[in-house]
Amino acid sequence: MRIAVFGTGYLGATHAACMAELGHDVLGVDVDQSKLAKLQSGEVPFYEPGLEDVLRRNIAAGRLRFTDSYEEAAAFASVHFIGVGTPQKKGEFAADLKYVDAVVETLAPLITEDSVIFGKSTVPVGTAERLAARASELAKEGVVVELAWNPEFLREGFAVEDTLHPDRLVVGVDRNADGRAEGVAREVYAALLDEEIPFLVTDLATAELVKASANAFLATKISFINAISEVCEAAGADVTQLADAIGYDARIGRRFLNAGIGFGGGCLPKDIRAFMARAGELGADEALTLLREVDSINMRRRTKMVEIAREACGSLLGARVAILGAAFKPDSDDVRDSPALNVAGQIQLQGADVNVYDPKAMENSRALFPTLGYSTSAREACEGADAVLVLTEWKDFRGLQPKDLDTIVRKRVMIDGRNCLEPEQWRAAGWTYRGLGRP
Ligand code: UGA
Repeated sequence: MRIAVFGTGYLGATHAACMAELGHDVLGVDVDQSKLAKLQSGEVPFYEPGLEDVLRRNIAAGRLRFTDSYEEAAAFASVHFIGVGTPQKKGEFAADLKYVDAVVETLAPLITEDSVIFGKSTVPVGTAERLAARASELAKEGVVVELAWNPEFLREGFAVEDTLHPDRLVVGVDRNADGRAEGVAREVYAALLDEEIPFLVTDLATAELVKASANAFLATKISFINAISEVCEAAGADVTQLADAIGYDARIGRRFLNAGIGFGGGCLPKDIRAFMARAGELGADEALTLLREVDSINMRRRTKMVEIAREACGSLLGARVAILGAAFKPDSDDVRDSPALNVAGQIQLQGADVNVYDPKAMENSRALFPTLGYSTSAREACEGADAVLVLTEWKDFRGLQPKDLDTIVRKRVMIDGRNCLEPEQWRAAGWTYRGLGRP
């Protein structure tokens, strides 16, 4: 099939490359020339394991190209995917839909044959219905432009795997339209359906809400264990053992029960806020007051981390603090709303000399927080440190041994913001070890 994908960020670039991998002819469309140039030369503009191989293979096979021309995309494809960003609006909880709106406004009038536009971006419920009406309104006389919603559940760091082997596919269609969207989606994803990946067809609103609730549930699960972590701190209990123990109950499950400095990134924080904002507009906000608590538990963990660092150093004023990890999670260079950088910034503002090291996120961190100190290795960041803070659980950091740092630091203080180290190992080597929610 001939497919156009609008937006070439994490979502769009991955979707475009993976649709080509499935054998389709794909055109990636963006307004950002520098991104397009990189992608066209086979370079992924962000860190995503495995994506570069898929990109290069499919460009070489002639199945994948990139352009900034909507005219070209409209002429090339009759299946379109929208994968542009829906960031949080400045000063508000609501999502900013200007990029999604712009794709429909620009694309729909250019389409010359019956087409389906699938939205993939995370949007507030009601958006798809509005855009479906708008697309029909803008379509040329006699041309049917149908709009459906096909939410994306990929995780950064596993984007390729999650796109080619998702847990499920969800397609929201306009039930009254008697349209082709379901059939077209079945054709696009035929290879995945052969693998018996569950395929759910819903109405537009349900598809939008599936996505919002999936992220809300994940955020709630993390904040749940972090709330329990606060109780563990008060009671002298160990949240990591507790999570293992409750996680054996299949109804609960161990995944996403890692207590620590909480969730960040370009999705969970803004998505729960947009969900609350939309529920408020619909008059259903009482049901979601829970998410306000989820958000505050999450933000409290960052403050707690700063307090622990202050306690450990006596005072942060003049203290030298090593920060290991800046990305919002391992295997990513994404620092959007990163708990690690937030903590680093707070500690620096309280007068400490902060040195940050991250295996992949240095460039993005520097761009966002240019005033923090940056080092070229974990060892360099730890030189003369009064406290070492592990804030992103990269494999390199999980594998650190006390002997790697014993003679470099000024004080043997390890604060584990992701509960990813063995406390006994560090204590046995004469270090003060502190985790979150651990005695
Ligand atoms: C999240 C969802 O997991 C994806 O399913 C969804 O498609 C995506 O958002 C999206 O909406 O685009 P992602 O933002 O890549 O994916 O990151 P997650 O793996 O969900 O991690 C989010 C944050 O939670 C990270 O900061 C991570 O460190 C934190 N986390 C995760 C914890 O603090 N504890 C855990 O047990 C798990």
